Amino acid sequence: MTPIFMPVGTKSCIKGLLSEEVENLCKYIILSNTYHLSNIYEMDTFKKNKNINNFIKFPNSMLTDSGGFQMVSLSKRIKILEEGIIFNNIYDSYNIKKNIDYLMGRTTNYYTNNTNYSNDNSNNNSNNNSNNNSNIGTDSVNVLDNESSTDKMYLSVGEDILLTPEISIRLQNYIGADIIMALDDVRSALEPDIKKIEEATDRTNRWLVRCIKSHKNKNNQTLFGIIQGGLNINLRNKSMDFIIRQKLNGYAVGGLCGGEQKKKFIEIIHHCSNEKVNKKYNYLPINKCRYIMGIGYIIDILLCSIFGYDMYDCVYPTRTARFNTALSFDGTIKLKQSQYKYDFTPIVKHCKCYVCVKYTKASIHMLISKKNPIVNILLTIHNIFFTLHFCYLMRVSIFTNKIDYFVTTVLYNNFVIGL
Ligand code: GUN
Ligand code: ZN
Repeated sequence: MTPIFMPVGTKSCIKGLLSEEVENLCKYIILSNTYHLSNIYEMDTFKKNKNINNFIKFPNSMLTDSGGFQMVSLSKRIKILEEGIIFNNIYDSYNIKKNIDYLMGRTTNYYTNNTNYSNDNSNNNSNNNSNNNSNIGTDSVNVLDNESSTDKMYLSVGEDILLTPEISIRLQNYIGADIIMALDDVRSALEPDIKKIEEATDRTNRWLVRCIKSHKNKNNQTLFGIIQGGLNINLRNKSMDFIIRQKLNGYAVGGLCGGEQKKKFIEIIHHCSNEKVNKKYNYLPINKCRYIMGIGYIIDILLCSIFGYDMYDCVYPTRTARFNTALSFDGTIKLKQSQYKYDFTPIVKHCKCYVCVKYTKASIHMLISKKNPIVNILLTIHNIFFTLHFCYLMRVSIFTNKIDYFVTTVLYNNFVIGL
């Protein structure tokens, strides 16, 4: 049932919540990240449990992002080659290296620097710098001779790791989420050099073909492609045209929500949606899942859903909760502010979440002033409930043909978001 927002559980759990709370709140789908999962777990963990859902006993659906975006946003140093993305790992690299070698069928002594990444150069279909990466993984590996568990501690954070489309997909096959994402070459929406955007868009297309080829679990997991192309309509057309011809079950629009002007954002999502008749190119088909990556404000969710999009994800509701901020129809509520000391109303009138039933703005303000860590959990529950309930209301209004009335009501109610 869409439109739907996917709360983000980066490392397979939503920070602060019991699994029972996650299950009750997130009745449809949550999102997790291949990059984080493959750094903190050995793939055997998922394999032994069949998939991540069983491992965390989450009975609903799960989507994993492919990892590239997280590297771009988290790593201090990344280099993009045709073969894949080399990035400076923010974690101790013991697990991810072991995982990559495991799924590549390589036996590596993790304590000597003998991993040869250039062997993975499958499907390398362009003249690229792949020779440059023959040293990947060897620069910063501590050379340790024996394998005792304490040696793990000596592997340093900040090693260079190579993530290829093949590795991302095979990792996601082991993790076992219901929906997996293709590895894409993500560039900042503000990148001024159109040549770089074009290069990244074309590479994303080539990587998709490699992702499709390496996907080994087609019966249980569906692969979504990602449209790139920055803020350029021609490049978005080129990307859509290519990706839609791959006949996948879902298509994401990536490379947005990176500080671009709202006008530009709207121009792109409107253009890519099927609302616009576009005869020359394929456009996002109405009967497939259409997903905008990185959307979390309810006004954006509403806007995109009017254009026909189905799925969204963002850390916004959960991250903002950890900054003592609650979401409401009237915008964000910073509950630390003294104006809430004697405000005995719930965060959102009529909200049926546990927090709005049991607490008031004043009681939460008091907990914040006493630095009680339960506040983060309470606000995480409310913010997820609020965003998902908003999607529910949207779905009801779409199915009952009242979306126009819904939009007017929401806007009429002084709806200010994210301020
Ligand atoms: N999350 C937010 N934007 C993006 C994107 O462009 N690509 C991927 N893979 N994940 C994202
Ligand atoms: Zn609530």
